[in-house]
Amino acid sequence: MDSKLVFSGVQPTGNLHLGNYLGAVKRFVELQDTNAMCIYCLVDLHAITNWQDPKELRQNTIEVTAAFLACGLRQENSIIFNQSQVSTHTELAWIFNCVARIGWLNRMTQFKEKAGKNRENASLGLYCYPTLMAADILAYHATHVPVGEDQKQHLELTRDIAMKFNNDFKTPGFFPIPEPIIEGTATRIMSLRDGTKKMSKSEASEMSRINLTDDSDSIRKKIQKAKTDPFEIPSEKEELANRPEAENLLGIYATLADQSIEKTLEQFSGSDFKKLKDELSDILISELDPINKEIKKLLNEETYIVEILRKGSDKASDISQPILQKTREIVGFLK
Ligand code: TYM
Repeated sequence: MDSKLVFSGVQPTGNLHLGNYLGAVKRFVELQDTNAMCIYCLVDLHAITNWQDPKELRQNTIEVTAAFLACGLRQENSIIFNQSQVSTHTELAWIFNCVARIGWLNRMTQFKEKAGKNRENASLGLYCYPTLMAADILAYHATHVPVGEDQKQHLELTRDIAMKFNNDFKTPGFFPIPEPIIEGTATRIMSLRDGTKKMSKSEASEMSRINLTDDSDSIRKKIQKAKTDPFEIPSEKEELANRPEAENLLGIYATLADQSIEKTLEQFSGSDFKKLKDELSDILISELDPINKEIKKLLNEETYIVEILRKGSDKASDISQPILQKTREIVGFLK
């Protein structure tokens, strides 16, 4: 085991899509296969910052865990658990609510996007969402956090909280300053309907995203209908500058083929989108079809999944409780 401690989380708010897979879960699996200790969390407490139907939340937690396993995460190599079973997260989050400044949270672009125009009506939980996220990471003294580009600002806030805590309580180095891992060609997968918007669970149109539970026919259909532009595929990366849809499809292909954008442009330059779409559909199906089948299989084994989360939660508590105890002492709470 090396000294890297990896932590990341995913909201169980619906099917995982290609953005979650390429930007996060595929990275989780790669990191699991290094020597680092890896902890992956279904962040159900974050999920309820927007209203969730209780039955659906439960089912989504099972389904996203099934997707984690189908993508290759293993309970023998990673700790997999759901956040609400480990109370250290909320306890530490409260302490961090008293460390973070309102001005810091007011700058969070995700809050602004998610709260929309009716900000007064957003939940208080949505507002302090990032302090709970900092608690998720710092409760384990995690050092590395694999995420997509959209989480960068939250990671910066986590680093600010760690530094301010260490400073305010004169405990240099107590909370490590975690490093985001935002790498590769898939840190921001865009909507198939609009290359300027990120692929997201909250987008109304199902045609905007590929879900890990989509079968081959729907993958092919969604890619065939994906928005493009009237030009041919260029040979130089610079020529993609104002062509977000082309850039997105080529980026997805490059990631799945495990090759650079330059190499991908070489492969497709001068051809029309039909060729790219046909080959992209093929490569997507060969990657996602086994995952899709495995998810279906695992969904028949609910007890097994619930047990993985319970065991994972016990392990997560064992690691985070002593860190929380030490934090309590530092803050000055009586035992
Ligand atoms: P969530 O559930 O929105 O997304 C899970 C992961 O998927 C990444 N992602 C994407 N990557 C590339 N392209 C996209 N279109 C795309 N959409 C989503 C996200 O960046 C994320 O890595 N706040 C987090 C969950 C969280 C967390 C944490 C993450 C809670 N606590 C602690 C890391 C560490 C979120 O809502 O992710």
